[in-house]
Amino acid sequence: MAAAPAARHLLAQNEHPGPPLPSVVAALAAAAGDLHRYPDFRPQRIEGIIADWQGVPAGQVAVGHGSAGVALDLFHAVVEPGDNVVHSAPCFDAYPLFCEIARAEARAVPLGPDARHDLAAMAERLDERTRIVVLCNPHNPTGTVYSWAELTDFFRLVPATALILLDEAYVDFARDWAAPAVPDRIAEWPNLVVLRTLSKSHGIAALRIGYALAEESVAQRVRDHQVPYAVNRLQEAGLLAAVSAQDEVDRRIAEIAAERERLRAELLGLGWTVAPSLTNFLWVVAPGDQLPLRTELERRGVAVRYYAGQGIRIAVGEKDANDAVIEGFGATAPAAP
Ligand SMILES: Cc1ncc(COP(=O)(O)O)c(C=O)c1O
Repeated sequence: MAAAPAARHLLAQNEHPGPPLPSVVAALAAAAGDLHRYPDFRPQRIEGIIADWQGVPAGQVAVGHGSAGVALDLFHAVVEPGDNVVHSAPCFDAYPLFCEIARAEARAVPLGPDARHDLAAMAERLDERTRIVVLCNPHNPTGTVYSWAELTDFFRLVPATALILLDEAYVDFARDWAAPAVPDRIAEWPNLVVLRTLSKSHGIAALRIGYALAEESVAQRVRDHQVPYAVNRLQEAGLLAAVSAQDEVDRRIAEIAAERERLRAELLGLGWTVAPSLTNFLWVVAPGDQLPLRTELERRGVAVRYYAGQGIRIAVGEKDANDAVIEGFGATAPAAP
């Protein structure tokens, strides 16, 4: 059998399909001239940019090395060995890893049959040693969401001694998802931490810019775990340029959403089960042997993420990449339910 060609359609990491915006690239080039200078010892300027952008006081902002970096700072800040962290399974790979790093007991709760968090089962796993309950909304890898009302029904069940880490890495793609403004959410839920990133909708994953928004004492605990010079000059310049180009970012989000819906409709038409998604990726249910599909996709140079016995996560790519995905799925029959 001929070896599969190297993947040219890179759809395994939920990245933005397009290159960074020209204005971001230009800002990085300009900032490069100052690389002999240290950035801020504490990232106050970047906290200020995010606070203005999000309409919160700077004291409610904690930034870090991507949102994953901020989440790890939070784990270091609040989790002692032997505490527990409740999260869904499958979920973003970093959370089980952070439980290991923090020597927390990971209480992984399988997703419900609708590919969403099983909130009732998660509530049953909460106790006085729970320090963090992680909710990705939209969820990775399934792209599914809960309404704000459903989430707050769950929040009421979380003990005040636990933080609710609401990971909104993909929320910018969820145009129709409605929730109160972040300051109102934080005022009502003092144990809520909203986690955001510039890696997805703003398309600058390699720059590693993420932030948490939370009540001041919680944000301060996260900041207390930051390394000095946590955010460099390129990150600061890139952030400023990215948030100044919101119209362009929004236009690209709309294009990705249109491609997502086209891809989903095609895969559904081929007989596959595909969860409704409000993100830049799709979850295809594939509980059986995924090898035939893998072979077909690899032959077409498509890299996606396989979850053995469960499903396949596909980032929405450029049109030619999505067409290659459709061809690969078209060449493989879905396993009988
Ligand atoms: C749900 C979720 N949270 C956080 C992240 C990490 O993003 P960042 O690049 O900001 O670290 C990802 C990346 O895939 C993700 O899927």
